Amino acid sequence: MIIIKLGGSVISDKNNPYSFNREAVEVIAEEIAQFYPEESFILVHGGGSFGHPNAREYKIREGLMGDVKRKRIGFSKTHQAMLKLNDLTIEVFLEKGLPAYSVSSSSIFLIENGDIIYGDLEILRKLLEKGLIPVLFGDTAVALDKGIDILSGDQIVSYLAKMLKPSKVIFLMDVDGIYDKNPKEKGAKLITELTKEGIEHLLESSESAGIDVTGGIGNKLKKALEIAHYSDVYFINGKVKGNLTKVLQGKNPGTVIKRW
Ligand code: IPE
Repeated sequence: MIIIKLGGSVISDKNNPYSFNREAVEVIAEEIAQFYPEESFILVHGGGSFGHPNAREYKIREGLMGDVKRKRIGFSKTHQAMLKLNDLTIEVFLEKGLPAYSVSSSSIFLIENGDIIYGDLEILRKLLEKGLIPVLFGDTAVALDKGIDILSGDQIVSYLAKMLKPSKVIFLMDVDGIYDKNPKEKGAKLITELTKEGIEHLLESSESAGIDVTGGIGNKLKKALEIAHYSDVYFINGKVKGNLTKVLQGKNPGTVIKRW
């Protein structure tokens, strides 16, 4: 089984509210279709310009405090926005003949201190057994500490990797992989293979500089450290046709972290 995270910036345009990047999703679906059903998949997509603007507007990360009436409405609205993006995504997969099946993350996970502390995975296991392709997504979630919170797609991927031990975890991003410094800076080089020490070094240098030198990738690297206990982890550009196929064929068109 392979877990693929479809980054929000791949399937939508982050600067343009509610913009769905249908062409990118079509290419991803076509590439997956070449390997299904011999290989089984779980997909998790991000929020992009559907989830993040709502989450910010209603300050969901603050929890259920302040104007709680408005907060509850915002909690539901953010979830509904994610359902729209999920619906658009699944529609494309169905068109390509893939039995993608929506699973609301907020219906199966509970969080505390920003981390998943409970996940009901029985349904996912059964869906896989029946040949379906579960599609989860970064979502709002009930939090035992602060009432409500945001659950990112990366956290979901990390939890699923720990529990289900996929052979590969693939992050589709809008850059070519992990760089030795912020890819927007001159002279930044793509790292093709990262070790545990390499990740620790990257995290240390970004923390000591007080900034995220890798361009917002720090949290992803922390998750990759956890996931690599169980699976090989790939970071690739999900907007480049053929990249996903390469990974599914065992090649590396971006950055790989081999399981340790
Ligand atoms: C965010 O999910 C979900 C919401 C804001 C509701 P992610 O954090 O996984 O989304 P991307 O990939 O960064 O867009």
